[in-house]
Amino acid sequence: MSKNVAVIVGSLRADSDNRKLAKALVGLAPDSLGFCFVGTGDLPLYNPDLDTDTPPEAWTAFRKHMSRADAVLFVTPEYNRSVPANLKNALDVGSRPYGSSIWNGKPTGIVTGSPGGIAGFGANHHLRQSLVFLNAPPMHQPEAYVGGLATLFDEDGAIKDEGTRTFLTGVMKGFADWVEKLS
Ligand code: FNR
Repeated sequence: MSKNVAVIVGSLRADSDNRKLAKALVGLAPDSLGFCFVGTGDLPLYNPDLDTDTPPEAWTAFRKHMSRADAVLFVTPEYNRSVPANLKNALDVGSRPYGSSIWNGKPTGIVTGSPGGIAGFGANHHLRQSLVFLNAPPMHQPEAYVGGLATLFDEDGAIKDEGTRTFLTGVMKGFADWVEKLS
């Protein structure tokens, strides 16, 4: 049976290039992985005072959804050399109540995308730092920093450059192996 991978896209923008990248990655992945996209835009900012017996509904739905996932793939832009606030908030919401973190033990993968050449290196490593702390081991290799995102896709959302397609196919093969190894 295929592993259930939750895909979290760090951008909330309707025409997000990172969402296009995430969809392309799903298309390049081995059959051993199945995917569902999980949104983070409707999660109220994490506040321990709200984390009572009746927390915000969106938190409960997110935690339930994520607890069913075998693994998580993050595809995100970099905001000011770190992760977008909605993504960090999702990490925080999922990490509580203390002792019930939905991240614990889940294999994870990180792909950062940017129109620029540094390709989200800062976001990639800030996210890596949080995931190591959360015991949601991020795949070590291959690392995936995708630059030049604004010109990567054709009108149908397919990756135009064959070299990039080959590289990202390898990333998804590596991720499938990582998920298998840690399951
Ligand atoms: C950015 N952008 C950006 N890019 C980058 O490479 N490094 C950075 O630190 C930042 N910082 C940043 C902050 C904020 C608030 C915004 C809105 C944007 C540019 C960003 O990479 C670009 O807008 C991407 O296209 C965003 O990805 P989506 O929305 O197309 O997926």
